[in-house]
Amino acid sequence: MQISSFISALPKAELHLHIEGTFEPELMLYIADRNGIDLQFDSVDSLRAAYNFSNLQDFLDIYYQGMNVLLTEEDFYDLTLAYIERVGAQAVRHVEIFFDPQAHTARGIVFKTVIDGIWRALETAREKFDISSNLILCFLRHLDEADAIATLHEALPYRDRITAVGLDSSESGHPPSKFERVFALAREAGFYCVAHAGEEGPPDYVVEALDLLKVSRIDHGNRALEDHALTRRLAKEKIPMTVCPLSNHKLCVVKDLDDHPLPTMLEAGLMVTLNSDDPAFFGGYINENFQVMKDHFDLSNEVLGSIARNSFLASFMSGERRSLLLDELDAYMAGST
Ligand code: HPA
Ligand code: ZN
Repeated sequence: MQISSFISALPKAELHLHIEGTFEPELMLYIADRNGIDLQFDSVDSLRAAYNFSNLQDFLDIYYQGMNVLLTEEDFYDLTLAYIERVGAQAVRHVEIFFDPQAHTARGIVFKTVIDGIWRALETAREKFDISSNLILCFLRHLDEADAIATLHEALPYRDRITAVGLDSSESGHPPSKFERVFALAREAGFYCVAHAGEEGPPDYVVEALDLLKVSRIDHGNRALEDHALTRRLAKEKIPMTVCPLSNHKLCVVKDLDDHPLPTMLEAGLMVTLNSDDPAFFGGYINENFQVMKDHFDLSNEVLGSIARNSFLASFMSGERRSLLLDELDAYMAGST
C-alpha cells in the first residue's frame, strides 16, 4: 500500500495495539525454531494463508495458537522490539500496548518473564527511538472473574510498569458486568481502565463499560452508533474511541471498508483515534489504517491531523510529554499546509 507523504511523517500515538498481535509469521517461525517447537505451519505463506477470518473468534483461535511459541524473556523482547522498529518508521511517537498475561501464565510462562521482556524493549524504544509508552494489562473476558483477580494480584509487584487495565478476547456473552469487581480493585490500586466494547457486542456493553467499569476510553465501540442516546453521550463526554479499520474489515465487523462507520463517528463529534489492533494478522500497521480511511473517504490532511491530535489527547502520557508531542504536531501541521 502506498502511504501518502503527509501520513508517513504525521506525528501520532497508537492506543489500541495487542503486542501478541504484532507477531509476524517470519518472526513466529524463527522463534518456534529457536525454541524447538513444531508450529504446525511450516512456512510464512501457509501461516498467512490461514489468516482468513469470518469473525472475532476465528481470529482469536489462531492468535492464541501463534503465541504458544513465546517462552523466554528474549522472545517477548524480540516481539516487542520488532513492533517498535516498525512503528518507529511510521512517525509513531508514543504507544500504549496491550498484553494478555493470562494467555501466557496459563501455559506455565511466569508473569515476570513476560513483563521483563516487554519492558526491556520499551526501554530501548525510549532510549534509541524516542518513543514513549504505557503498558495496559488486558483481562481475557472468556475466563472467569477469579482468574482476572488472581492476575491483578500477580501484576501488583509491577505496579510502576503498568498504567491501565483493559478487557479483550471473545466479547459476545461476556459483558463488562462480569468484571465489575476486578475493575474496582484495579482502580483502587491506581490503574486507569479501558475496555473493548461494541466490536461484536451490543451497545449495552459500551454503556456497562462506562458505568460499571468506569473506563477512560472505549476500544472499538463501533456498535455504539446503533444507540443514538449513547452516541450523543460519547460525544458530549468526549470519550475517546480507539477505532481499528483494517481489523474491522478482516473480522467482518464491516463487510466492506466503504461501509466503515468512521465518517458517521466524525460527523457525530466522537473523539476518534485510528489504530492497528493486531497488525501482523490484519494486513497493516497504523499508517496503513490511516491511509485506507483517507482513500475510502477522501479525508483531508486537516481531518487526519485532528485524529492524530486526538491520539495524544486520549493517551495516558504525562502532561509534559503531551505538550511536547502536541507542539511537534502543531509544527508539522503548520509546515505542511
Ligand atoms: N478484540 C478482542 N480481543 C482481542 C482483539 C480484538 O480485536 N485482538 C486481540 N485480542
Ligand atoms: Zn483489540
